[in-house]
Amino acid sequence: MKIIRSPATMTAWSEALRREGVTIGFVPTMGALHEGHRTLIREARLRCDALVVSIFVNPTQFGPREDLAKYPRPISHDRAICRKEGADVCFEPTVEAMYPTGFQTTVTVPAIARRWEGEARPHHFAGVATVVTKLFGIVRPHQALFGQKDFQQSVLVQQLVKDLNLGVDIAVRPTVREQDGLAMSSRNVYLSLDERRRAVTLYKSLEAGAEVIRAGGKDAKTVGLAMAQVVSQESTITTDYLTVCDPRTLEPVSSVTSRVVLLGAVRLGSVRLIDNLLVSTPRRAS
Ligand code: PAJ
Repeated sequence: MKIIRSPATMTAWSEALRREGVTIGFVPTMGALHEGHRTLIREARLRCDALVVSIFVNPTQFGPREDLAKYPRPISHDRAICRKEGADVCFEPTVEAMYPTGFQTTVTVPAIARRWEGEARPHHFAGVATVVTKLFGIVRPHQALFGQKDFQQSVLVQQLVKDLNLGVDIAVRPTVREQDGLAMSSRNVYLSLDERRRAVTLYKSLEAGAEVIRAGGKDAKTVGLAMAQVVSQESTITTDYLTVCDPRTLEPVSSVTSRVVLLGAVRLGSVRLIDNLLVSTPRRAS
């Protein structure tokens, strides 16, 4: 496995392969790789001839009071995983190479970024949209894989690829969970043992909402109440949002008529967790 740090070298590597008709798969990450990332890497390996994984803790998607400085960076562990999963290149650009002096351009996807994570983290999605656009420009993949874990991010990336004709095929893969249901996340290492035990509450809350829908419930308010009730049983957890939305627009719905996404974000002490479930209304028996 090659480790490439220079964007120009990365582009030259990809362009040479593209000229030979080799298909390039890409999994962008911020490192601290876990089974969720690993599943994306494994799947990308199967879908394409060549595979690039990027590891770049992108400063522009962190707010001033967020965890940029302490974000975990276990680079040897991450490289070992990339190697084991058959990546051909681990692309590890420096901050200076990605944002040299004079850098100006920002990519925004305003309607999708407006609510939920965008409200809690004002410049987050502009940072994500800009770095993903740059990474696609540098790596020039045919296909890129993203996790459903960051649902709003996955919708935003699909929109920007379409709007800007980036020509990258985007695949979104299901959330990989711990045994108790907690969505895997690089930030789970911040949880104390006690917080870790309580963290599954978010998933349980989304499941409670999903149950209402699976049982035929159509009123989004009732679904919302079922979700809120589970979180309210844990006095140490505060809710940022628990909502029932259209999975394409991320706008809240009042009535569950087809497929919806249940989106949630909670805080446990200083740790913020997000999760989601896609749920369809039950099919009527014929
Ligand atoms: P990061 O949080 O490292 O996630 C990289 C990819 O792994 C994202 O597509 C994310 O949705 C996916 N992922 C994370 N946890 C997952 C899980 N439990 N199951 C399945 N997939 C999971 O998301 C980012 O980095 C950044 O915003 C990035 C896109 C790299 C831009 O900087």
